[in-house]
Amino acid sequence: MKLSDAQIERFENDGFLVLPSVFTHDEVDALKSDLPRLFAERRPENFREKESDAVRTAMALHQRSDVYARLVRHPRLVEPAKQILGDDLYIQQVKVNAKEAFSGDVWQWHYDFATHHEEDGVPEPLALNLHILLDEVTEFNGPLVFIRGSHRRGPVPATLDTETTSYPLWVVDREAVAELVAEGGLVSAKGPPGTVLIFGDTLVHGSSINMSPWPRTIFSLILNPVSNALTRYRRPEHQHHRDLGAVVSLADDCLIAGAAA
Ligand code: SIN
Ligand code: MN
Repeated sequence: MKLSDAQIERFENDGFLVLPSVFTHDEVDALKSDLPRLFAERRPENFREKESDAVRTAMALHQRSDVYARLVRHPRLVEPAKQILGDDLYIQQVKVNAKEAFSGDVWQWHYDFATHHEEDGVPEPLALNLHILLDEVTEFNGPLVFIRGSHRRGPVPATLDTETTSYPLWVVDREAVAELVAEGGLVSAKGPPGTVLIFGDTLVHGSSINMSPWPRTIFSLILNPVSNALTRYRRPEHQHHRDLGAVVSLADDCLIAGAAA
């Protein structure tokens, strides 16, 4: 999959892309079918909500599941990332973020580079976050909300929040968020299952609780140039993978054909 010039321009201006119908229903079904097994596992890669036993984020899925091992090499994710960043990208982080119906918790306002830089010593804000919506995401079930154009400010001040949720995150304060929103406005990333989101390392984003009766699961792959790799190793491997081998795409039908093989 190749991004058009207009899409690249939109990505550069807005800091994100929302691309509907990139993955088919059969492909999304194949991805969702392994989640009950993965979420049931009791292991440190599964972070559960502060107030419940529900899985909030399940990490390192490519090391725990065949279909996710293929997904992280999927050309519809890897090729657009290479188009934006150039070759030689490594797999930094692989997860599914879930928001259980009625209770899935907030992701505070943040940009990913704050955490990658402070915790893992990533030098520059180059990494790309590639999402696939695995459920229909609407205004009701806790969509990601982007501050349009916030990436253009670069890394704004951030502080570590270990209190609000079960997941430690470097977050942006209210004054900075209000300023950025006044400049660029908010966009919620909604769409049917199979929609892909692409956004960069300094785009400020967050999501509110899911008080709807509909669950919300989103796959996320972060790819980072090998030349911009982590320099600090204090977080566990599932939060920042150490294998700096350049990711190589599989065939376009790898999710479905791979399952039959
Ligand atoms: C979310 O799942 O709502 C937040 C995801 C992210 O910060 O990338
Ligand atoms: Mn994020």
